Amino acid sequence: MQINTNFKRHRRLRSSQSMRSMVRENHLRVEDFIYPMFVVEGENIKNEVPSMPNVYQVSLDLLVEEVKEVHNLGIKSIILFGVPNSKDDVGSGAYHNHGIVQEATRVIKEHYPDILIVADTCLCEYTSHGHCGVIQNQDVDNDESLKLLAKTAVSQVEAGADIIAPSNMMDGFVRVIRDGLDEAGYTHIPIMSYAVKYASAFYGPFRDAADSTPQFGDRKTYQMDPANRLEALREAESDVEEGADFLIVKPAMSYLDVVRDVRNNFNLPIVAYNVSGEYSMVKAAAMNGWINEKELVLEKLTSMKRAGADLIISYFAKDVAKWLQE
Ligand code: PBG
Repeated sequence: MQINTNFKRHRRLRSSQSMRSMVRENHLRVEDFIYPMFVVEGENIKNEVPSMPNVYQVSLDLLVEEVKEVHNLGIKSIILFGVPNSKDDVGSGAYHNHGIVQEATRVIKEHYPDILIVADTCLCEYTSHGHCGVIQNQDVDNDESLKLLAKTAVSQVEAGADIIAPSNMMDGFVRVIRDGLDEAGYTHIPIMSYAVKYASAFYGPFRDAADSTPQFGDRKTYQMDPANRLEALREAESDVEEGADFLIVKPAMSYLDVVRDVRNNFNLPIVAYNVSGEYSMVKAAAMNGWINEKELVLEKLTSMKRAGADLIISYFAKDVAKWLQE
């Protein structure tokens, strides 16, 4: 049969490994990654999170050993989450000078001053009710919560945090935290804002890891509706106006359209948060032998870069660092 060969030969650029790597458009680098760690009060604790294989809650005395591994792999940045022993209505553990994240920051900075510490600024791990702010009339009170969040950020920086990452989704959080930091003399500390954060079922395993499940209701009055796209641009716009230095989109995997929208509309560094549920799903499938973990993880993280993310917060950071060295 005669066929019409008047068509483009796209396969020319896929003909060999060398050819493919020559024309590859997006790459993962170890510098792209921020590794999340859970620090717990107590001694000699290294508890694996049941829903997150190979992710641990670690006590301060064992933390340096863990960070050493991260550092040796070339990872330059860690985001810290605290798991305190006791909680109260107003989340005092979040802004206590000797709170768990503050102490963890001091320990890490003492041993690894070049590691960038990102402090997640939220109250949910510290409140008895598990919400991200203080409760009044059965709902989270926006403006009262802001005062405590600014106080939390200042105490985190006092302890040595390099970047403040507010994840609470109160309106005005960037402005109030920026003012709080500036007044305390920390004008040089950047804010990595969780600008676009959806009320997502993908956070389930994190709430096991951080023990932060809300005791009543849900987070839908402050986190975003997963059905919305334009709202993401409104949220990001406010944070840019209020002084954010980075914009986080969270979760990542099911929200790559939003990562792209934010990339196209703003010129700040964009961070994709590859959240706990995204991690656990892959781990579960891999443990069953249903997928090739390495290939799948590299593919999915590369797709975040392709969508426009500059940086990725991921529980896979250590794995990726190892794979990139192979
Ligand atoms: C705190 C916070 C959460 C996550 C990061 N910071 C939980 C939540 O909002 O419920 C989720 C991270 C993950 O799932 O990996 N507000």
